[in-house]
Amino acid sequence: MLVDTHTHLFVDSFDEDRSEVVSRARRDGVEIMLLPNIDASTIQALKSLVEAEPGTCYGMMGLHPGSVKDQWESELNQIKKELWNGNYIAVGEIGIDLYWDKTYLDEQKTVFRTQVQWAKELKLPIAIHAREAFDEIFEILDEENDENLSGVFHCFTGNMDQAEHALSYGNFKLGIGGVVTYKKAELDKVLRNIPLEHLILETDSPYLSPVPYRGKRNESSYIVHVAEKLSEIYKVSMKEIAERTTKSALELFKIPLSQ
Ligand code: NI
Repeated sequence: MLVDTHTHLFVDSFDEDRSEVVSRARRDGVEIMLLPNIDASTIQALKSLVEAEPGTCYGMMGLHPGSVKDQWESELNQIKKELWNGNYIAVGEIGIDLYWDKTYLDEQKTVFRTQVQWAKELKLPIAIHAREAFDEIFEILDEENDENLSGVFHCFTGNMDQAEHALSYGNFKLGIGGVVTYKKAELDKVLRNIPLEHLILETDSPYLSPVPYRGKRNESSYIVHVAEKLSEIYKVSMKEIAERTTKSALELFKIPLSQ
């Protein structure tokens, strides 16, 4: 059994075949899929998928840093309302992204810190999107860190220092996805020094497809290629990769193993 801890199966690139995509994932052992929200415009689609696939798809609620623009206050209000009224397993995805645009850096920081504080109040883990922004994120988390802070650095592609900093917070994991299969990323070199117990698996569908699907639409069943790559790096069986990453994911997101 595998858990895809970060998959946007509710976006419109899956409108034609969403239920087949979920079935294919289940067929390949991906029994649980966690859906991080993007912004107010995606809430309805996310909720529909969670309702259609109970016990398989679970929702996270948050405002993605890429959607922090002039309307950020109204966006954040809608997210807050949904988070408090709905049934969500985490606050996500949240973070800071300075790769595309630095215009809204101050707003991104405010929005990130606010959502970190909500997560602590609700005792929920956070799913962090960090792109060219580790310093800014660490600065906020260093200040906010306490016994209620937990979460994952989704699509972790940092160096060893950044991995150590991320894992220095109480209950944090590194989310590993398709990038680990890209030779140039050299993520395997960093992972060789990080115990397997700190990792959870994800696809970030529809983005970042693993080899041999690189460049194509990603989907949760492809997570098997991420697990295979980890089995190669850690020199352990696929079964062990699956068991250990699934255990970490279920513990972090407090999902009961009912099946
Ligand atoms: Ni994402």
